[in-house]
Amino acid sequence: MRGPVPRHVAIIMDGNGRWAEKRNLSRAEGHRAGMRALRRTVEACRDLGIEILTVYAFSTENWKRPRDEVDALMDLLGEWIHKEQQELLDNDVQVRVIGFPGPLPPETRRALDDLVKATSRNKGAVLCLALNYGGRREIVEAARRVAEKAARGLLDPATLDEKAFEAELETAGIPEPDLLIRPSGEMRLSNFLLWQIAYTELWFTPVLWPDFQPEHLAEAVEAYRSRDRRYGGLHEDKD
Ligand code: FPP
Repeated sequence: MRGPVPRHVAIIMDGNGRWAEKRNLSRAEGHRAGMRALRRTVEACRDLGIEILTVYAFSTENWKRPRDEVDALMDLLGEWIHKEQQELLDNDVQVRVIGFPGPLPPETRRALDDLVKATSRNKGAVLCLALNYGGRREIVEAARRVAEKAARGLLDPATLDEKAFEAELETAGIPEPDLLIRPSGEMRLSNFLLWQIAYTELWFTPVLWPDFQPEHLAEAVEAYRSRDRRYGGLHEDKD
C-alpha cells in the first residue's frame, strides 16, 4: 500500500565542498552548483505536489568556516534572491526564513526581508530557508520566551504543553516535516529541526547535493510513500 506524497520535505544540502574538490574547483563554486540544485529541487517539489520545502542553507556553526567562504555564501544568497524573486512570485511560492538572521550582512538581511514581504501572500507552496539556524538555539530561544511570558504573568507554567511550546519555535504555523533528506553520505542531523523531526521519516543518499536531481527526490518520495508511519502506535491492520 502506498501512502500520500509528503506535504513537507526538509533537506540538509550537504556535499558542496566535496563536489568542488573532486573537480578542482573552489568551495564557492561548489556552493554555486548547490544553488542550481536548489532551483531544480524547488521546481521538482512543485511537480510532485510537495507543499513545503525547508532547506538548511547556513547553520549557526557555519560561521567557523574561513571568512572568504562565509562571504561567498552570503554573496550567493544575495544573488539567488535577485535571480529567483520573480520566478518565486510567478510560481506563487511563499518564502519564509527560520533562524537568527541578525548577524547576516545588512544588505543580505534587507534583500531577505523584501523577498519574505513580497511573497507573503503567495499560497501555492512554501520555501523555508534555514539561515543562521541551529535546532538547539531555537529550542533555547523558545524556552526563554516561555519563561519571559511566565515571569510577566502571561502564562501559567502548569498549562504549558507541546502545542503551546511549538508556537514559540521559529517554525510556528508550519507543519512538521514528513520527510528529511540528507545527501552526501553523512548520516547525522547536524542540529537541524531537532524538535520538529521527532516523527519525520529519514532518507539518506550518497549523492552530493550539487548532483541531486529531480529523480533523486522522486526516489526519496517513493521510499517515503512505502513506509508505514505509526507515530508510536500500531498500524491499523495490525490491531
Ligand atoms: C554544506 O556543504 C552546504 C552549505 C554549508 C551551504 C548550503 C548552501 C547552498 C546550497 C547555497 C545555495 C543556497 C541558497 C539559499 C542561495 P559543505 O560545504 O559542508 O560540503 P562538504 O561537506 O562536502 O564540505
